[in-house]
Parts: sequence; C-alpha cells; structure tokens
Amino acid sequence: NLDQRVNDLLQKMTLEEKVGQLNQYTGDQDATGPITASGDKVADVKQGKIGSMLNVRGVKYTRALQDAAMQSRLKIPLLFGQDVIHGYRVTFPIPLAEAASWDLKAIEQGSRIAATEAAASGLHWTFAPMVDIGRDPRWGRVMEGAGEDPYLGSLIARARVKGFQGEGLGNVDAVMACAKHFAAYGAAIGGRDYNSVEMSLRTLHEVYLPPFKAALDAGVATFMNSFNDLNGIPATGSSYLQRDILKDQWKFQGFVVSDWGSIGEMIAHGFVQDNKHAAEVALNAGSDMDMESRSYISSLPQLVREGKVKEELINDAVRRILRKKFELGLFDDPYRFSDEKREKKTLNKPEHLEAARDVARKSIVLLKNQGQVLPLSKDLKSVAVIGPLAKSEKDMQGFWSIDWGKEDKLVSLYEGMQNQAGNTKLLYAKGCEVQDTSRAGFAEALAVARQADVVVMAVGEKADMSGEAKSRANIHLPGVQEELIKAIQATGKPVVVLIMAGRPLVFDWTAKHVPTIAYTWWLGSQAGNAIADVLYGKYNPSGKLPMTFPRSEGQIPIYYNYYNTGRPSQNDQDTNYRSGYIDMVKSPQYAFGHGLSYTTFSYSNLVLSKPSMGKGETITASFTLTNTGKVAGEEVAQLYLRDVVAQPVRPVKELKGFEKVALKPGESKTITFTIDTEKLSFYNDNLEWITQPGQFQLMIGTASDNIKLQQNFELK
Ligand code: IFM
Repeated sequence: NLDQRVNDLLQKMTLEEKVGQLNQYTGDQDATGPITASGDKVADVKQGKIGSMLNVRGVKYTRALQDAAMQSRLKIPLLFGQDVIHGYRVTFPIPLAEAASWDLKAIEQGSRIAATEAAASGLHWTFAPMVDIGRDPRWGRVMEGAGEDPYLGSLIARARVKGFQGEGLGNVDAVMACAKHFAAYGAAIGGRDYNSVEMSLRTLHEVYLPPFKAALDAGVATFMNSFNDLNGIPATGSSYLQRDILKDQWKFQGFVVSDWGSIGEMIAHGFVQDNKHAAEVALNAGSDMDMESRSYISSLPQLVREGKVKEELINDAVRRILRKKFELGLFDDPYRFSDEKREKKTLNKPEHLEAARDVARKSIVLLKNQGQVLPLSKDLKSVAVIGPLAKSEKDMQGFWSIDWGKEDKLVSLYEGMQNQAGNTKLLYAKGCEVQDTSRAGFAEALAVARQADVVVMAVGEKADMSGEAKSRANIHLPGVQEELIKAIQATGKPVVVLIMAGRPLVFDWTAKHVPTIAYTWWLGSQAGNAIADVLYGKYNPSGKLPMTFPRSEGQIPIYYNYYNTGRPSQNDQDTNYRSGYIDMVKSPQYAFGHGLSYTTFSYSNLVLSKPSMGKGETITASFTLTNTGKVAGEEVAQLYLRDVVAQPVRPVKELKGFEKVALKPGESKTITFTIDTEKLSFYNDNLEWITQPGQFQLMIGTASDNIKLQQNFELK
C-alpha cells in the first residue's frame, strides 16, 4: 500500500536527500517573485537536492527536467507547480468575476478545463484556489479570490478544488490544488499587500478560515502559507495555524508549501535572526516545502545534527510530499504528464473557449439600467465604442494569465461587438489612456459620440493594476476616465458605461449620473464576445456582486455582514450621534449581492414549515419566485439570517443559502431553503462552536440591501 511504499523509500534516503524533497526552486521561465541567484539547477536536480520546481511548464521542458531527476540516486520524480489561476491557455474570468456568477457548476467547469490544459502541458500542481476573504478593495489581490463572504467563498473554494482535482489525483487530467494563503492574508492593514494582520481569533475562525476548511473537506492536496504576520506571528512561522489548526485539529494529510521566499522573509519581519533560524522556525511550525528561500536546503541538515529540528518532523514533511508524488502516479511513470500528442490535442479546444465565454457572460453584473438602453437594439444605425479599453485584448486577460501564448485568441470588446452588430455601424475613439491625464483625445471622442445613436464606453483598470503587489490607495477610475464619461454624457446621447477592472472601483459621479452601467471585470479570452452577448441581449445578465462597492475609499473596510453598534443609523439621513460619517453617507455604492437583469422578478408567499425548531432539527422556508418581465432570465435568490440576541453579538445579516434559478417570462417556481442548526451556529469567545436559543430573523431577497420577504422563527 501507499504508506508502505512511502516508508520504504524514506528508509533509503539520506538526510540530505530528504531535505532535497522539501526544496522548491523556480525554473525562471516566469518568475513571480524577486529573482534570486539561480546556480546550476539541473545539477542540483541530479543530486537529489530539489523536490519540486515552479514556473516550469510545457511537455518539452518538464520532460527534460524530469530526465535530470531520473539521473538522481533514488530517481524521485520532480513535482511541477505553477500559478494556474484562471485558465491555462484559454483564460477564464478572473476569480472575483467568476464568483459574481454565483454559478458553482460553471466555476467548477472553469477550473476543470484549466486543469486539463495544465496537466496536458506537464504540470502536476496549481497554486490555486486563492480562498482569502477580501473586505478591502485597496488590496490588489481581491481579484484572485471569491470576495467578502465566508459562505459563498466556501462553496466556491469547494467548486474550484473539485474542478482542479477532477476525479482525483492519479487521473492524468487532474492537478493538485493548493488552498492559499493560510491565513488571513486578505486582511492586510490598509489594504497594503504583505502587510500585518491584527484580528481576533473569533473573526479568524468565523470569517477567514471557513473557505480553507471547505477546500480541505473537498480534498485539497496542498496548502500555501502566507506572507503576512497574524497578530505578530508570521504565518510561515505559526505553529498555531499550521500545526494546531491545520494538521492537528483539521487532520490535513497533504503538505504545506511556503509562499515565495516567505521563510527567509521572517528575517525582515524581525521574527528570526538569519536564514538558518528561519528554517528552524518554519519547519518546526509545520511549513513542509520551502519555495525559493533556500533556507531548508542550506540549513536543515545542520539543524538536525544540532538537535534544533527533530528528524521525525523532517520525515513527516517528506512523507507528505512523497505521498502526493505516489498519488499522482509519478513513481509508476514520471513522464505521464509529459505527452506531446496529448498536449497538442488538449490546449485551446473550441469547447474550452465556449465554456470560457459562457462563464464570462454569467460573471457580468448589470449595476444600473434606468434608461432601458440595454439590451441594444439591432436597429440602431450606429453605436460609438469609446474608451481606452475598447480595443484592448491583453487587459481583458487580467493579472495571472502567465501561460497565455501570443498565438492564443483573445477577443476585445470592439471585436466582440463587431461579431454581433449586424447592420449597425460601429464608430470608435479611444478618448484617453487608462492612467494618463491628457485630455487630447476628448475632442475626437466627442465628435464620434455626436454621430452615434448610443455610446458604449469601456473604462477601468489595466491588467497590471490589480493583482499581487498591486495595492492602490486611490481606487477611483484611474486617470481622466471619469472626466471623459462626464464629457460624453453631456452630449445628451444615451450612454452605457462598462467598467473593466480587477476590483471594486470608486466611481461615484458615474453611479449617480449615468443611467446604464455594467461591471464587466476582466473576463479572459472571450471577454469581447461575452460582453457583446449581454449588450445585444443574447444573454440576460445574472451576475451579483461578491463584494461591497464603496462610494469612497474612506468607507473601507466595508462589508455587508457587520455588527449593528449601539447607535445604528436607520438610513443615510439618520446621522445625529449615530454610527456613520458627517461628510458622507454610510451606505455603499452597491451592496453585496446586487445585480440587475433585463427582466424583473417578484418574491411572494413565504411559508416556514414551523415557527420554531429544536437543536438538531431543521426548518424549511419556501417562497414563490416569478419572472414578471418580458424576457427569460436568471435570478440568484439569497437567504440571509440574523441571530437577533446573542452573546457575543451577531452580524446584521449573514448569507446562508442561495439558488440561481432560470425562469421564462411569466413562469413561477417554488424555492425551498433548509435551515439546520449548523446555519445558526457561531463561535463564542472560547472558540467553541455553539448555538444560543432565541429569535432568528430570516430574510430572503435579491441583494443584501434588497430584502423582499422576512419572518422570524425561534431556536428552542
Ligand atoms: O503562488 C504565488 C503566491 O500566491 C504569491 N507569491 C508567488 C507564488 C508563486 O508564484
């Protein structure tokens, strides 16, 4: 059996060979961290000093390096890992955008396809999904997560892990997933990447850890620790996180990889004195593999000899890594992921592009459609497409699309619209650059707008403005883009603003004055076609925001599941000695869960199966959802709960269920949510998972700030 095979091999290994398995180097094809001196990596592989490499991909390259591994004494195969974050050669919407689809099947399918392509290209492992909760849009990495909510985030974490790992490791189209970054990386103070995190353990367990636990329950093979310190302890050196919670309480059987250089970075944190000390602390704390710090390879054998690290702990880390290599089938055939024919056949399949287009259009969020300008009529004589992102292809890819090749097809908004415009003439003007402050292009844009029946504007962020190390203090629409919108709006032409970005941006003027706005994020390879599907009504938008959109940076952090305070304001006007601001309203620009459709839905007939439930019992809440408009559409009906009186206090509402329902015009469906004790439970101050008897408020609605039905029930 597997354990036996692992132990047999372990017994043959020298201490140096064991430590080699814990060492990961970059192949330098694409570095995603600062480059360190590389040395002769192939020679190191041959000497059994490297267990895994990242940024090595493609059958040819992985095969060549695996050849080197086969020349090592024990012929232990290498693991090849890579950041396959939202697609491999066919790119899918950035993860935050995909989360806006609230479509778990489509999300799973996106990861499945990414894994199929990556595995055909020699990869065994993706450093995804990122399951960090993000409540601060200044933090550039919100683009890589599923937003602010632990419930939605957990379901998406599970979907992505299932997608990446498919039918299970050992299948040649499955790659190991990696739940990252453990933990609380998303709560960096000030939204500044890599920054410290200060948080109560209750919040950690209740808000930030659930998606990690969900990934674990879905069988995730690996975890990555994080760059931040948590309450003064760098996560990489935290035994509380890695040993107590992950390995002891949660019984995680896979292995933990450090983030790039995070072991060595504990020196800069002021937590350890040098690289050797860093290796000692990290290994003892439960970090199994060292990504690019080179601390383990240089110091662990000596630390064992000095008695500062027990060899049994090294053995445990090596066993975890070897086990995964066995599960992947690499000991049976180290080249099983490196098949040139399969690679050729698998990359860029038409059905992959089709799936990317499908989830891309599902990810678009219609924020506002007051003038009913959308969907665009095919009878329009001319449409002006204006804005710095209208013809951009590369920016639609978003951050973390490192595997996309120059020969791969990308569709800009303009091209997508051309594909569907029929007899409508498309006019174009750039207007301005994304970040530049020059207004030189305004005159041309205005002239073009004046000739058109409708103007579609493409504004937002360039692909390198949200992502790792892309924190922004000012998250307004960059440059003079909002000035351009004002100028075009002043022509009196109907304007549709499309915002393409990797995070919630601030665009207060546009939100107030432009009647039609859609958030189209960065949607990947098929962005233009997907947006055109929505613009022309081929697809009725159904996306809902997975993060709260602030009116101003001053409101950050802002999220829907906050505590009420002793002086809550009832509305934005109610400010006298209330919790709010004297210079602006408290409410967000757009709330969590918000998103419109070309049709309308009504919610009615809420019926609870009983007025109260005991611990261990369930209550069902049924209601009727009706499409009251003229076109078919999909609605994401959302269930929120509030524990009315509790100690400690509970949030004003928490998402506890949702269903995405497709309805034809006039059609109704009965939707039923089941509430069990788990949904009513929470952590007390002793970190015990408890329920407290009393009243619960049940709310069902179309957004967290638009509740349509509510009723109380009692937990006895
Ligand atoms: O996987 C990433 C991680 O999320 C951030 N630092 C670099 C790693 C490897 O590229």
